[in-house]
Amino acid sequence: MIELLKAPRLDLLLALAAVLASAPVIAAIDLRDYDNDLMRDLDKTVKYFEPDITAQNSDAAREDAQVLLDGFKYTESYFTKKGAADAVEISRKGVKVVNDVLANVDANNFDAAAAAARETPNLCKSCHDIYKPRLAR
Ligand code: HEC
Repeated sequence: MIELLKAPRLDLLLALAAVLASAPVIAAIDLRDYDNDLMRDLDKTVKYFEPDITAQNSDAAREDAQVLLDGFKYTESYFTKKGAADAVEISRKGVKVVNDVLANVDANNFDAAAAAARETPNLCKSCHDIYKPRLAR
């Protein structure tokens, strides 16, 4: 018994380390390689997205949609690498919403396109609420 207490159980320590490393806490994700320039582009674009659609400016709406699609595809692959399943899920919803917008713009359904576009900032925010350090928006 005394022998056991003296010798640290390496297997238990390793098991504990594995649990700590896989815990889904914000601090576990190292964001140093994150593309914040892209995020700022998204921020500008998302502001024009719905207005471009309601103005029935299809070309501008398609350009906005492309930037946003690239953004959500970037976050999908970035957070896949980090093993953050909830962020990947949000990114996939983003891709879907933007594709809905594009389909509706192509069909000249601007009301439906605008409704889908209004979903976009909620998806940005739901990821920021979980993963963006401080000042979540
Ligand atoms: C799946 C997660 C995720 C999605 C989706 C996402 N973001 Fe972010 N965003 C982040 C994270 C994480 C940070 C913080 C990165 C850091 O601290 O280095 C961030 C940072 C930002 C920043 C701050 C950039 C800076 O200058 O520091 C802006 C602006 C931003 N996002 C806008 C957006 C907009 C607009 C959208 C939607 C169109 C969006 N983001 C979608 C995760 C996401």
